[in-house]
Amino acid sequence: MPRKFVVGGNWKMNGDQKQAREIIENLTNATLDPNVEVILGVPAIYLPLAKSVLPAKLELAAQNCWKVAKGAFTGEISPAMIKDIGATWVILGHSERRTIFGEKDDLIAEKIGHALDSGLKVIACIGETLEEREGGKAEEVVYRQTKAFVSAIGDRWSNVVLAYEPVWAIGTGKTATPQQAQEMHACLRNWLSGNVSPSVAELVRIQYGGSVTASNAKELAGSPDIDGFLVGGASLKPEFVDIVNASS
Ligand code: G3H
Repeated sequence: MPRKFVVGGNWKMNGDQKQAREIIENLTNATLDPNVEVILGVPAIYLPLAKSVLPAKLELAAQNCWKVAKGAFTGEISPAMIKDIGATWVILGHSERRTIFGEKDDLIAEKIGHALDSGLKVIACIGETLEEREGGKAEEVVYRQTKAFVSAIGDRWSNVVLAYEPVWAIGTGKTATPQQAQEMHACLRNWLSGNVSPSVAELVRIQYGGSVTASNAKELAGSPDIDGFLVGGASLKPEFVDIVNASS
């Protein structure tokens, strides 16, 4: 079965109620390739608003969650709450969570496991820093990060999208070349084949993220192992429509 192209817009900590409505209205009125799954990663506080105006062709993601259903965890939200307001996805392991908030592989794996247990689908992020790439460690790092998720995911890979986001390309305007991205995606698929199973390697969708724009999306989308994008800055702009349609 071919892998359905999947594009996520990660708004990060941006926007207000007005902008959230405008972005969704723009996407509602736009012609989006019906063969592409489109997921909006909206700040938690605006998820209910987004849900109230969301057309059926778009899905909703939270940008983080905690690893248990409820309790004394001031400031956190649970997968149960995310589901309760009608969102179906959560983004976990983003490099900003790892570097700014100190999240480690083990915690991210616990969050992934609990989110899947709760019935959410997960965009699980991995990616090396510039230092790691320049030190020849890029593959080793993304394999370590992916390996940490394996037992938490178990046989639920169809509810997981992997997002390969080299940290040096995030918000920097410096995109990985289609060759660099394709090479890493192919390596990851090969690793999944050997360490999980050939069928998981074949079915799992791997997004590329890092300074994706309307001008570079088409070329990136042409690579056989790039199954979509996780878009930050450009997901707040009208050009997100062209990124969604880049694989057509
Ligand atoms: O989650 C999205 C990535 O961090 C990419 O962000 O498109 O602003 O570089 P960016």
